Amino acid sequence: MEIQPFFDEQTSTLTYVVHDGRFAVVIDPVRNYDPKSARTSWRSAEEVAAHLDREGLSVPYVIDTHAHADHMTGLPFFKARYGARSVTGSRVGEIQRVFRDIFDLGDAFPVDGRPFDVLIDEGMRLRFGSLEVEALHTPGHTPAHMSWKIGDAVFLGDTLFMPDYGTARCDFPGGSASTLYDSIQRLYAMPEATRLFVCHDYRPGGRPVEHQTSVGEQKRKNVQIDAHTTREQYVAFREKKDAELEAPALILPSIQVNIRAGELPEPAANGTAYLKIPLDKLGGCGR
Ligand SMILES: [Fe+2]
Repeated sequence: MEIQPFFDEQTSTLTYVVHDGRFAVVIDPVRNYDPKSARTSWRSAEEVAAHLDREGLSVPYVIDTHAHADHMTGLPFFKARYGARSVTGSRVGEIQRVFRDIFDLGDAFPVDGRPFDVLIDEGMRLRFGSLEVEALHTPGHTPAHMSWKIGDAVFLGDTLFMPDYGTARCDFPGGSASTLYDSIQRLYAMPEATRLFVCHDYRPGGRPVEHQTSVGEQKRKNVQIDAHTTREQYVAFREKKDAELEAPALILPSIQVNIRAGELPEPAANGTAYLKIPLDKLGGCGR
């Protein structure tokens, strides 16, 4: 099994290609978005594609760990170019429902997981070539959040980050610090050598990008939750910290695209697609 990381500088997102030499999955790809001009591009996805093409890989599945609030997902690129089927957690409908209402997207907007191609739940498996992805429901950051286990590697999404940065925020709709604590305990119960791959790296102190850690290292060194941190300690810390955080810079453009499995809204009669900006609806304004 080969694992290749890609780092998107703008959003500090890590995308992974995992393959067996013939078949690959792509996890958490990015569609680039410039908030100043509202231009989208496939710069990051093209970088991933160059690798896939160099290795001659087929891509049966492209996977999101969750509905990201900090970048637009690149799922449609891999559907269009490789015929990949898009995959996410089956509870994504809960996220669609919350944001359908916030963005006033109308009763026809699906809240059942469409238009994702494959909705997957705890314990389900997807085969690709000689490898298998096992879905782990790891809620807390969002209720639908999944981590993905392939062999001895777990692709964490927004649960744990590198040990010197800590853990994901839990203040989005349906988020819960206590629930994330449980999800992390589940990860911590895995063998210490289990390899863990983070979805973001914010490079604390300006250090170089890192993407890989292990269960043992996290239990010893995670600055927000080590093997000895109690639920009470973690929840108190996380909730205090979240109350101080601003909303992610790209939450408004990202989330309304990501609940459409990364498709842009239908263009208006003039051929232009528009996003909405709901006023005074979101928290996280540095209250
Ligand atoms: Fe996230």
